[in-house]
Amino acid sequence: MTARIYLSPPELTGRELAMLGEAVASGWIAPLGPHVDAFEAEIARRVGMPHAVALSSGTAALHLALLALGVGRGDTVWTSTLTFAATANAIVYAGAVPVFVDSDRVSWNLDPGLVTDELERAARSNTLPKAMIGVDLYGQCADWEPILAACRRHGVAVIEDAAEALGATYRGRPAGSLGDLSILSFNGNKIITTSGGGMLLATRRAWIDRARHLATQAREPVRHYEHKEIGYNYRLSNLLAAVGRAQLADLERRVEARRAIQARYRAALGELPGWSFMPEASFGCATFWLTCATIDAGVSGETRDDVIDRLAAVDIEARPVWKPLHLQPAFAEARVLRGQIAEQLFRDGLCLPSGSALTHRDQDRVIEIVRRRP
Ligand SMILES: Cc1ncc(COP(=O)(O)O)c(C=O)c1O
Repeated sequence: MTARIYLSPPELTGRELAMLGEAVASGWIAPLGPHVDAFEAEIARRVGMPHAVALSSGTAALHLALLALGVGRGDTVWTSTLTFAATANAIVYAGAVPVFVDSDRVSWNLDPGLVTDELERAARSNTLPKAMIGVDLYGQCADWEPILAACRRHGVAVIEDAAEALGATYRGRPAGSLGDLSILSFNGNKIITTSGGGMLLATRRAWIDRARHLATQAREPVRHYEHKEIGYNYRLSNLLAAVGRAQLADLERRVEARRAIQARYRAALGELPGWSFMPEASFGCATFWLTCATIDAGVSGETRDDVIDRLAAVDIEARPVWKPLHLQPAFAEARVLRGQIAEQLFRDGLCLPSGSALTHRDQDRVIEIVRRRP
């Protein structure tokens, strides 16, 4: 019997139990402690951001990034339409209204030309957003320079959603260091995991201090329990931070492993009629957290769902590319700036099993099933 092949399962280094055992023995079984402090410092150093706070999820980090910027009711926040719902859910949690922006074909992320033109137009009509959340999708950075330049010109704060891109670079700079604030996710399917967790990073200490306060039920620093505003319970457990530290030490190898998986898929499947892999933009080095490809059904003779079904029939997990948020019923009211490229990437796109522990044997199984046309 062959075992199920998952899309992106967690991979253990062998060091997690020792780190976890040490954390338990230390007595710091709390949403603070030495492993939390060390994890924050290690991630900040790795990403090249001066300040960080470890949180219970990437979604919590997005929520607090918006609150730290003062985003609230009546504000709009622009973001990529081709992303996981968490990116835009956080905008709604903050009481703001999302506006969705189409992708480009170069990186599948925010189209910098579209962002530049639409911000110009919004400035003229006095409808500029308070913030922009750019996403580094599937382990590849957006084209940040023109996006940042346009946002700076109009005084729009930038949050980098690097949940999927720890280990990637943009013009030599690490993913997570490009926005005014940035977030990472350590969800179970990410390149490193704490089972669940996230990190908020920022260029300014004041934003992180504010986020840390809100993440701790907005408790005032006095002896009794004093709260001047509504807070959240968003801190990361010291036990999970210990797991995260063990995982982080293995990051570089994992990036290489995922890149090698992508290269093997591309070599084996890249010539199939109608198939195109997500390009690696010349401005960066992607991790290929997930290897994604599009299938032009008119050329290939089969759709992306045909391929996903064929893999599912032999217990191999593949998934469609994110459904654009402007097509989601939950965001039916939202404005979208263009959207057709994201729609096409969703219609034709699939993600192949990409876990950093995927063996050559299992990858060959995936390749063989994809190639085995009915
Ligand atoms: C692009 C993106 N943003 C945000 C998140 C949210 O992170 P979390 O699951 O840690 O809340 C995820 C993944 O889960 C994601 O893929």
